[in-house]
Amino acid sequence: MNRTNPIGFFDSGIGGLTVVKSVSRLLPNENIIYFGDTARVPYGSKSNDTVIEYSIQAANFLLRKNVKLLVVACNTASAIALKELRRFLTIPVIGMIEPGAKMAAQTTKNNKIGVIGTRATINNKAYTNELQRLNSKLKIFDSPCPLFVPLAEEGWIKNKATELIAKEYLLPLKEKEIDTLIMGCTHYPILYEIIQKVVGKKVQLIDSGSPASYLVENYLSGRGLLNNSNQIGMSEFYVSDIPSKFKEVAEIFLGKKITHIHKVELEELTTE
Ligand code: DGL
Repeated sequence: MNRTNPIGFFDSGIGGLTVVKSVSRLLPNENIIYFGDTARVPYGSKSNDTVIEYSIQAANFLLRKNVKLLVVACNTASAIALKELRRFLTIPVIGMIEPGAKMAAQTTKNNKIGVIGTRATINNKAYTNELQRLNSKLKIFDSPCPLFVPLAEEGWIKNKATELIAKEYLLPLKEKEIDTLIMGCTHYPILYEIIQKVVGKKVQLIDSGSPASYLVENYLSGRGLLNNSNQIGMSEFYVSDIPSKFKEVAEIFLGKKITHIHKVELEELTTE
């Protein structure tokens, strides 16, 4: 494995870009390959078997691009498929749950943590189990927020409708007096402003992208695999469908032009 090989990221759609943004900020020289399964988003309402199958296909696609490390930039896939991916991959695999939970456990002062995520992530109790393993005194209040995913994919970042939906989902958590809220879906940081407005400034929002990026740095430096070139890394984006909004929302969110965007045929993913 070479230092200049890219880091691979995958998500069901645009959400994983929130993780790419954190990693690129911390490690600007790394080359990045991103796969967004936009033809099959959302993952959060699918069965565990389907999420595992799609995650393995995404990982195999990225392996064929010679990635040196895989970031599962999707909480749903991290909650359900991480063990399976680690079992069959020889490269390191980083998920979202452990870094996000650890940061939340370190942040809370009153031990009351809210967790929002897809139905699959919440039903699988991924964060609850990890938080309780870290500190059995924590009180955890969780709630699925499935409508946030299409709102983020549509780029409805400042709309009134998004705020109304956010109130519906988040005010019951606010009433529990949480002081920390884990945005347990990589799409949600796209709606950061509205989420913060609804829960209030006193609630600390946790986005797994930032703690995960430190984990990426640790893994790579520990294995002598940090890219030490002094050039800004290349980013390539692959999607299983090119929805009209993908490029626009991705560019607003990343704050830069996306030039290398390619469509992957589903057939290429499903045939070994
Ligand atoms: N961004 C994903 C997550 O972190 C998936 C959202 C979805 O496809 O439902 O869970």
